[in-house]
Amino acid sequence: MTVLARSPRFADYAQVVARRYAGDTLFVYPDVGLLRGILSGKAAYLRRGKAKAFAALDRSGKPAAFCTAFVDPGLQLKTGRATGSIGYFEALDERASTEVLDAARVWLAGEGVREVWAPFNGNPYNQMGAREDRFDEPPFIGCAHNPPTTTRFLGAAGFELVNRYLNFEIDLTSRPWERFDATRIERMEVRLRPASRLQFRREVLSYVRLHNTAFRTVWGEVEISDVEALQTLMRSRLAIVPELFQFAMAGGTEIGFVLCMPDLSGALAPLHVPLTSPRGVARLARVRKRATGVGLLSLAVAPEHQGGGVGTALVAAACRAAAGLRFRHLEYALVAENNEPSKATAARFGGKPCRSFGIYGSSIG
Ligand SMILES: CC(C)(COP(=O)(O)OP(=O)(O)OC[C@H]1O[C@@H](n2cnc3c(N)ncnc32)[C@H](O)[C@@H]1OP(=O)(O)O)[C@@H](O)C(=O)NCCC(=O)NCCS
Repeated sequence: MTVLARSPRFADYAQVVARRYAGDTLFVYPDVGLLRGILSGKAAYLRRGKAKAFAALDRSGKPAAFCTAFVDPGLQLKTGRATGSIGYFEALDERASTEVLDAARVWLAGEGVREVWAPFNGNPYNQMGAREDRFDEPPFIGCAHNPPTTTRFLGAAGFELVNRYLNFEIDLTSRPWERFDATRIERMEVRLRPASRLQFRREVLSYVRLHNTAFRTVWGEVEISDVEALQTLMRSRLAIVPELFQFAMAGGTEIGFVLCMPDLSGALAPLHVPLTSPRGVARLARVRKRATGVGLLSLAVAPEHQGGGVGTALVAAACRAAAGLRFRHLEYALVAENNEPSKATAARFGGKPCRSFGIYGSSIG
């Protein structure tokens, strides 16, 4: 057994990543804020759920595989089963991979988990799934980057596909927003407004309130606390372009939002820094000019306002704003394959499937 006996540290994860992606010029460091918080015990997630990291060593004693196991009571409430997950999964070979996944599954079984999903980094804010295509490109913003071996390692450890997250590409040069009647929501006395960077904390709290109600029926999503949302989103504050993060307002209350961010991955890849690190943010302004695409990372309408055209108006506004900023395409990202209303929204704008990410499952215990 070569599983690391002491509690793994961030450096153990970083070593596996450095070895796995050495020479990969497309690699972009993922947002590891949640992982750092878990390893230091400071993540707000830990007030709600449990998490434990594992590392496996090679014969020379160097970390060769890493993962983090999560037990999220919110996810279990959602599935109605004892579901757990494994994320931040990186491995250099099948032996180390199986060892680290088995160690995580033993711990999860001890926590009463009977079904485990992977790669699933706690919640869908954190790069979910194993990349299934376009391996010769940098990762799209907010989306996973891994070689095809990730899927092979999971298969070898007995995992099978349970769902997918899909991305849809919308061509902005065809001006898709013009197909929709912009006055429809005005007649309902709904107006759109850009998010404020100055009031960003307040915006995050509106965002999380809407997120928690709108995503109640969406696969994989869990209710997160205000503190968790603040920890996750405050990091991205400087990367936010206000025109690309808009709220729908009715009677002075937020009833929906769309959150898009420029896809800076291609431009960030050669820098080898995470987007949300101080160095990533410092380089942001310079690399932004080179980005041609925008990622639509989150979209929600309060359930009592759904079906009235608000979601369509928000996506139309995001497309119009992105085209106005000279972006040529918008990628409607990370839609669970069984989320029909969201897929219909992407299709209304001519969205074409362009990327997919697999989530795998195995039973334990
Ligand atoms: C996905 C979601 C944002 C859609 O928002 P919505 O406000 O309910 O959708 P809309 O009211 O705009 O669209 C509903 C219908 O109105 C029609 N419509 C809306 N605006 C229109 C307009 N201006 N002109 C003509 N038709 C219009 C649409 O074509 C659609 O018709 P369809 O039901 O035949 O497809 C919403 O269901 C939601 O919040 N879901 C939960 C969260 C989620 O899944 N988010 C996406 C994550 S990836």
